[in-house]
Amino acid sequence: MTTRLEELTDEYISVLISYFDTHDEAALTFAYELGRRALSEGLGVLDMAALHRAAVGALVLPAPPVDQPRFADALLTCFNELLAPFEISLHGYRAALAASEERFQLAVSGSTAGLWDWNPQTDEMYFSPHFKGIMGYADHELANERLGHVNAIHPDDVARVTQSLDAHLERRDTYNVEYRIRTKSGEFRWIQSRGQALWSPSGAPYRMVGWIMDITDRKRDEEALRISREELRRLSAHIQQIREEEKARIARELHDDLGQQLTALKMAVTLLEHRKPDPSAPALSRDELDGIYGLIDQLIDSVRRIASDLRPVMLDDLGPIPAIEWLANEFSARYNVRVIRHIDAETITFNQASRIEVFRMVQEALTNVARHSGATEVVLDIIRDEPNCILRIVDNGRGAAREGRRGRHSFGLLGMRERAMLLGGELEIRTAPGAGFALTATLPLSAVEDKAPPE
Ligand SMILES: Nc1ncnc2c1ncn2[C@@H]1O[C@H](COP(=O)(O)OP(=O)(O)O)[C@@H](O)[C@H]1O
Ligand SMILES: [Mg+2]
Repeated sequence: MTTRLEELTDEYISVLISYFDTHDEAALTFAYELGRRALSEGLGVLDMAALHRAAVGALVLPAPPVDQPRFADALLTCFNELLAPFEISLHGYRAALAASEERFQLAVSGSTAGLWDWNPQTDEMYFSPHFKGIMGYADHELANERLGHVNAIHPDDVARVTQSLDAHLERRDTYNVEYRIRTKSGEFRWIQSRGQALWSPSGAPYRMVGWIMDITDRKRDEEALRISREELRRLSAHIQQIREEEKARIARELHDDLGQQLTALKMAVTLLEHRKPDPSAPALSRDELDGIYGLIDQLIDSVRRIASDLRPVMLDDLGPIPAIEWLANEFSARYNVRVIRHIDAETITFNQASRIEVFRMVQEALTNVARHSGATEVVLDIIRDEPNCILRIVDNGRGAAREGRRGRHSFGLLGMRERAMLLGGELEIRTAPGAGFALTATLPLSAVEDKAPPE
């Protein structure tokens, strides 16, 4: 024992004796005062334990056994008083900690970080109010227990978080993980968690402090970007495939249709060549000529049909409106669906690039109506609404659920969106089961129309 502690011990023992004798409150005040002095002189609770041990040895043990319980009781009362200043200062320390955390809180990032403080030995845990706030709880609603947080981690992320933590505690790898956490409302949010452990000289971690941040918005942006990249990749793969299919289809039509008709024509001519000559008749009869003309007309029709399937001639000759009118008429006749049109035909002058895009968008929309809607009526608007051209196709059919529209192999809507974007515009879809399907493309006139010729 240090001299200072020995002096204090002597004083303490004399305080004890006076308390035994008088049971006077004043003695307890002395005990408290002793504790305060010990604290201010830098002695710790372990010193107080040693002092207490000395007092027990000096007073309780030598007492006759019958008196010992009474002595022990009195000793306990005094010891509590002695320790009271230590207890109080600990509270002050905690308050100071809270204040410093608040400063840290501000310093870390204004209001976005939530702090945690963990003792890996005892598993004691502290979450700052803001930490709980990120999880959707008020301070008093979530206990300072590690499991309260761990159990809320998304099942798919638990293994990753555990691995990261183990790697930090065992190998001192950086602890910096991103994971989803279930908030009070049941919704999952993305957080980033960073932390730093402290290790004792023997290498055992005894404390780990860190912070979490809500990164849901960032994750959402990343995800949107990823999806749009993925869609583009699929779309371009799809376009390659479509090109191959188109080539195959054209080859088939040329072969089956034109090829057969040409063969028929060739056979007709061969027959004529090998016919027995009849000097009384003309070289070719009317019937024979009509037969050959008929075959040639069929050929011309086939060539027209194949060509206009590829790209309606009207589109280039007359612009998209007549081509769309033609498309709508064909569609109505074929599927028995009324197409009500409001078309500002005169006021919009479509340029080369926008003609084909607008035509294909209407074509795809009508194909979808035929395929998916069961509608009896379609409203088709192509309207000048400065500074945009509004293209709207609305049917009264069965509509679709939200998810239904994102099939992995549904490229129609995706393609329409790309076409709208190509013209600097956008495509909006409104639908619900049983409520029809409405497509609206908003296209800036500046991209749709012919540029005014330079003066
Ligand atoms: N007019 C419509 N009425 C109801 N559902 C539609 C309509 N248009 C599209 N859909 C739904 O959206 C999905 C995606 O359409 P789309 O991208 O053109 O692909 P696809 O026509 O090849 O299925 C369709 O499978 C369908 O479920
Ligand atoms: Mg489609």
